[in-house]
Amino acid sequence: MTRDLLYLLAASLFIVGLRMMGHPRTAVRGNLVGALGMLVAIGATLPGLGLPLLLVAMVVGSALGVVAATRVKMTAMPEMVGLLNGLGGAASVLVAGGEGASGGAAGVATAAGGLIGSVTFFGRYVAFGKLAEFLAVSRALKPWQGAVKYGFSGLVAAGALASAVGGNPAAGAAGLAIAGLLLLRRETFPGMNVAKAAVLLLALAAAAMAAGGSGYWTLVAVAGVLGVLLTWSIGGADMPVVIALLNSYSGLAAAATGFVIGNTVLIISGALVGASGIILSGIMCRAMNRSLVNVVLGAFGGAAAGPKADEVYRTVKATSAEEVAMLLESARRVVIVPGYGMAVAQAQHAVRDLANLVEKEFGAEVVYAIHPVAGRMPGHMNVLLAEADVPYGKLKELDEINAAMESTDVCIVVGANDVVNPLARTDPSSPIAGMPIVDADRARTCVVVKRSLGPGFAGIPNPLFAKEKTLMLFKDAREAFVEIAAAVKAR
Ligand code: TAP
Repeated sequence: MTRDLLYLLAASLFIVGLRMMGHPRTAVRGNLVGALGMLVAIGATLPGLGLPLLLVAMVVGSALGVVAATRVKMTAMPEMVGLLNGLGGAASVLVAGGEGASGGAAGVATAAGGLIGSVTFFGRYVAFGKLAEFLAVSRALKPWQGAVKYGFSGLVAAGALASAVGGNPAAGAAGLAIAGLLLLRRETFPGMNVAKAAVLLLALAAAAMAAGGSGYWTLVAVAGVLGVLLTWSIGGADMPVVIALLNSYSGLAAAATGFVIGNTVLIISGALVGASGIILSGIMCRAMNRSLVNVVLGAFGGAAAGPKADEVYRTVKATSAEEVAMLLESARRVVIVPGYGMAVAQAQHAVRDLANLVEKEFGAEVVYAIHPVAGRMPGHMNVLLAEADVPYGKLKELDEINAAMESTDVCIVVGANDVVNPLARTDPSSPIAGMPIVDADRARTCVVVKRSLGPGFAGIPNPLFAKEKTLMLFKDAREAFVEIAAAVKAR
């Protein structure tokens, strides 16, 4: 009874916390309220369980979590969040499997926990490997990338062989398939869509058997193959949608596991994660002009033919910090478009300093264009700019920014590439085709700050860089903004 009341309190705190996280001003407190809810939930669950072992697990887990979270670089945050999320899926698989419920509603919940949890775990691993650029690539890897890639495949293969020797050849075969797929060097292979459909059917059949009480680990292994296949060919504009979707899956897996072990708060928190993940996927889909069904079924992939970089970049013009300062001096309206490179350079403070300076010295209006998938995680640019104390009112969404782009004197693109690539509008074969972009090419002058003509996440050239009205400032973003600010002061 007391426990149920505490669970109710925890669930209420989760909901209030989520609500508060919906606005930047209350987001930090909302996060704390959610964490408090989690503390209440843990406190209510602990009594009656094997306390010593749990405490050891919590201490070890918390220590690892604190070390990882404090040492991770801001740019590696998306990978870190992904890994933690994938571990949630793995936990659901283990708890549902450990409980071993069979038949009836509990059996269905067990099968759902195993199926969704395993798809989440392996799908998340693939997304992690693609963000960290060691999966589905054919170039030489850095030592740590090789260690993770081959180490993980080796572990999966060892587990698969152990299952086969232990009397489960089906799980063994599926496990070996996962280990092998994870070593592929390309994003697609012949017959991939047929393989996806076949494995989906196999996974559903295995789930039906597991619900009846047999073959749980076969289900987990087959679902793992499905998780790998579904995420393998995803790139370009679809990756953010898939990441949001996998977040949601981890919640659904936790909720299913909550049913298996009869834990109300796990059901509620899983449902909250599942629902918010689906809402975020919907928002991402709309922002990217994709349909959820398309992304889920993977009706994409295949290398784009597209234009070659050498041809596109024939007319590129380089500029200097002084020239940019001169442009800013006569500007009335300036738009800054931040992207992943701003995160890499940790340039947000330097960017804000320049914006403030230009407003103060030259009296121009400076606003920021926030593209929903700029960076590598939802809300990435909002987080960075909030950290630099940029007022929330200066962050503008796509529609508002694009409506006023033609009357913008200078548009400064800082470390963004795909989100300002006009090929999204003009090349239907491009991996970002149809994705709404910030129309930087429609401003009176466009300055692009990046280190080289290297591509962004989607791996395609960007005709914006070679436009008549575009000037390239080839520098690290932070250095560039510090230099432009110095040049502004010198004028
Ligand atoms: P990208 O297209 O990835 O381009 C980033 C650019 O930053 C690169 O071209 C790079 O050029 C430049 N850069 C890197 N380090 C820099 C530094 N120190 N100083 C200056 N520039 C630097 O970034 P975007 O425009 O933000 O687009 C995001 C992409 O990621 C989209 O394709 C999106 O679909 C994908 N994605 C997004 C998410 C979410 S949820 N946001 C998740 C997964 C994938 P140089 O190397 O020449 O400097």
